[in-house]
Amino acid sequence: MNGSNPQTAAGLARKKLMGYVGFANLPNQVHRKSVRKGFNFTAMVVGESGLGKSTLINTLFNTTLYPRKEPLPPHQERPKTVAIESISADIEENGVRLRLNVVDTPGFGDFVNNDESWKPIVDNIEARFDAYLEQENRVNRSKMQDNRVHACIYFIQPTGHALRPIDIEFMRRLHQKVNLIPVIAKSDTLTDEEILQFKQRVLSDIAYHQIEIFRAPVYENEDEETIAENEEIVNKIPFAVVGSNTEIDTPDGRRVRGRSYPWGVIEVDNEEHCDFVKLRQMLIRTHMEELKEHTNDVLYEKYRSEKLLAMGVAQDHSVFKEVNPAAKMAEERALHEAKLRKMENEMKLVFQQKVAEKEAKLKQSEEELYARHREMRDALEKQRLELEDKRRRLESGRPLTPEKVSSQATKKKGFSLRN
Ligand code: GTP
Repeated sequence: MNGSNPQTAAGLARKKLMGYVGFANLPNQVHRKSVRKGFNFTAMVVGESGLGKSTLINTLFNTTLYPRKEPLPPHQERPKTVAIESISADIEENGVRLRLNVVDTPGFGDFVNNDESWKPIVDNIEARFDAYLEQENRVNRSKMQDNRVHACIYFIQPTGHALRPIDIEFMRRLHQKVNLIPVIAKSDTLTDEEILQFKQRVLSDIAYHQIEIFRAPVYENEDEETIAENEEIVNKIPFAVVGSNTEIDTPDGRRVRGRSYPWGVIEVDNEEHCDFVKLRQMLIRTHMEELKEHTNDVLYEKYRSEKLLAMGVAQDHSVFKEVNPAAKMAEERALHEAKLRKMENEMKLVFQQKVAEKEAKLKQSEEELYARHREMRDALEKQRLELEDKRRRLESGRPLTPEKVSSQATKKKGFSLRN
């Protein structure tokens, strides 16, 4: 190879262009298409009631997605199980549309016995994976709807101690199914020092229990500024957040979103006061697509292959498979055939059931026919014996009994004609 045609890592010759061709415009085409289609994002919030989940979501998206909730009257009984509630809203910023879905989990951690509080949440996440898998197996896949949960914001009580068993259990059960983003709720109730120590403790608990939380990936060819930005975000995990949709005046005359206390004002959007800005940056401004990609490529892919293996569809996990359309098609065909086989078996079962029902009906009518036939035969035999008896009496010249005379009278005509 000569110097003018260097090789790429994949062994392909790199060619120089003689002039403008136009594919440099591809990113713009992708951009236009994405803007036209709009985006969608599903976030789940989990944490005990009153930890500020609705307030934080409203603060993050700067809208009143959650209507103001009134507290339950004292006499009204609380539901006994974790519920799953979903709110959707279309929001728009500078012409870019975002369909935002927020999945709330009221009841989590609110009972005397919170064993298995995580279960309805896992079930819901898996049901969303199943719905996506079902769409993938359809003949027409042009209108796929992605309702998978792309991020789960887990609210940790600002105890200042350590993670509680319920936190650990939840994260252990969920970390391979959803991008976990732990946040320290209502962090304005802790001092800076307490927050630092609490974060250390939470991180070491997470490491000890081998829980995987979402960390923004760093790519090789990223510029230094982006790498530094990412590092700053990662260093803030678990984000110590404060939520508020109320605007208040600061002593220096600014109007800010925050919370006012006798000792001063906590500003939500001030990085010196809390990590809300960093959380918003990761979730919305820099890593929304990463969260979706990780959900699709890693979490969903894991769920999907486990599910298919359980259904008996063998598949190869290698990267080659990912980029090999023939292998992908073969896998899809296998899945489709498995589905057809299942349908065929079901149809056979229904058919056999119908045949059995028909046979039972035919047997019944056959028996009824036999019974009627027997009845008629017996009646005829009886008649024949009577006639026989009558003939014998007439031949022997014996008179008929009065009953026989009357019976004879009714049948006389036919009888005398035959004789
Ligand atoms: P449920 O709807 O019951 O699940 O509660 P939630 O977790 O959605 O809490 P919500 O946002 O309704 O907030 C409960 C109370 O806490 C409200 O009075 C909020 O004003 C207050 N609150 C919300 N965020 C914060 C915060 O960051 N710091 C403090 N100190 N209070 C907050």
